Amino acid sequence: MTVLEAIQRSTEFLAKKGVDSPRLQTELLLAHLRKQPRMRLYLEFERVLTPAEVDGFRELIRRRGQREPLQHIVGSTSFCGFEIAVNRDVLIPRPETELLAERGWTFLNQLSTINSQPSTALDFGTGSGCLAIALACKCPTAEVYAVDISSEALALARENAARHGAAERIRFLHGDGFAAAPAGARFDLIISNPPYIPTAEIASLEPEVRDYDPRGALDGGADGLDYGRRLAAEGARFLKPHGRVMLEFGDGQAESLREILQQQMWIVEAIEADYTRRPRLMVARRADSPADEPSAARSQPG
Ligand SMILES: C[S@@+](CC[C@H](N)C(=O)[O-])C[C@H]1O[C@@H](n2cnc3c(N)ncnc32)[C@H](O)[C@@H]1O
Repeated sequence: MTVLEAIQRSTEFLAKKGVDSPRLQTELLLAHLRKQPRMRLYLEFERVLTPAEVDGFRELIRRRGQREPLQHIVGSTSFCGFEIAVNRDVLIPRPETELLAERGWTFLNQLSTINSQPSTALDFGTGSGCLAIALACKCPTAEVYAVDISSEALALARENAARHGAAERIRFLHGDGFAAAPAGARFDLIISNPPYIPTAEIASLEPEVRDYDPRGALDGGADGLDYGRRLAAEGARFLKPHGRVMLEFGDGQAESLREILQQQMWIVEAIEADYTRRPRLMVARRADSPADEPSAARSQPG
């Protein structure tokens, strides 16, 4: 079987199994098997695969056909240019969360040009560690804390941090949200991509998400906003006066989350859309915070 034949047959198979972008997925898996860039396949369409390659590729395609995520099969994904290992203990980092990371490090870097003290950030629900690692690497003077309730997730987050030389710069904390933070700690930035899927919607998610992302990384309670309520109610005690809370949220949750924050004396500075133009992240500060510090907002509240 040639490379092109293998790609065509597997694309058809994955399409029948309901996999999105089956041709791309097929090419990525073959490139992974052959340890070469995907584009290289295009130069080798007529090359005949060895029997070992055929067997190996068949197995990868079988797994993908069972809707196992590509990232689990290849073992990692890219987040803000950092390779992040993933497994069933952590949510696969999503491209839309890169926006949150970028807002976070921009704010920390702005602060560090003003303050002589290192800026501090808390990543609430760190999972694979993607946000904490991006903050630590893009803002080298920041002190980053990363909390998760899952010790398995934290183990992988630590490995990911070590891979990027950030293990010494991130303090990983095991526990239930702010309860895990050091006593008396106050942060410049509290950043979180919390679980925000309404419980009843989990069953109808794509199998890649429903069956492979950890339930504890998805389930945001009846309306998906349990963690938003928690962050709004508890966050103020852990934030410095000029600090910011930056949160990712789900489809259709922007207005409810804004209300939740406002009821707890937060000012919503910005609501930003993701690459698909859906509102996806919220930046807030305390209503009584000083007004003459860096703005974390790029756009105004919608
Ligand atoms: C949606 S995932 C986000 C993971 C990662 N920050 C990302 O953006 O890809 C939410 C994470 O919050 C963690 N989590 C859930 N409840 C928590 C709690 N009460 N305290 C700390 N972490 C929690 C989950 O274990 C999961 O790793």
